[in-house]
Amino acid sequence: MKAEDTQRKRIIVGMSGASGMPVGILMLHALRNSGKAEIHLVVTDAAKTTLQCESEFDLNVLYALADQVYDVRNIGGAIASGSFPCSGMIVIPCSMKTLAGIASGYADNLLLRAADVTLKEGRRLVLVVRECPMSAIHLRNMARLAEIGVGIFPLVMTFYNKPETIEDMSAHLVSRVLSNFGIEVPGNRSWKGLS
Ligand SMILES: Cc1cc2nc3c(=O)[nH]c(=O)nc-3n(C[C@H](O)[C@H](O)[C@H](O)COP(=O)(O)O)c2cc1C
Repeated sequence: MKAEDTQRKRIIVGMSGASGMPVGILMLHALRNSGKAEIHLVVTDAAKTTLQCESEFDLNVLYALADQVYDVRNIGGAIASGSFPCSGMIVIPCSMKTLAGIASGYADNLLLRAADVTLKEGRRLVLVVRECPMSAIHLRNMARLAEIGVGIFPLVMTFYNKPETIEDMSAHLVSRVLSNFGIEVPGNRSWKGLS
């Protein structure tokens, strides 16, 4: 792939070892089905462990949803450079460790380096963070990033959209994240206001 496809946004998706892998997988499906994204995927080792714990999906199923997959240890991968054109990056789910790495600029793996580059290039970065409860350290790291424009989307439950299944609830969060990137998911039940 030489340059960003004019029809599709090139988006880096990072998956780290927080709980919530099924939501990450749902987002990969939604991105792929939208036909509007070229997906560059990087998955941490801890995310591979949580995938085994939380999903019946095998890693190869996940990889098949991406256009390009990177080894998290390959610090020289294309997404490690600001000269690689892209629209932005979504980390889903985002662990507190990965959050801390991004907040402190400690880019010792390819996911962290890609997020660091996304920030230095002034591109959109969204983190779907998950921990419960959160310590003051977690909250400070989120605040530091929110202050410089990073989208912090906590992986939380919603009820106002009347979900009937966990997947409904997950799909709602996914649609909020993708809408932030200008990608609308069909069937999204957005708030229409009280009558
Ligand atoms: C089943 C399981 C669930 C986990 N859930 C969370 C979580 O929700 N949030 C979090 O910050 N860490 C969670 N962890 C711990 C992270 O995986 C751990 O801190 C890891 O070092 C994160 O590395 P990474 O950010 O490089 O993926 C979980 C670990 C396991 C095995």
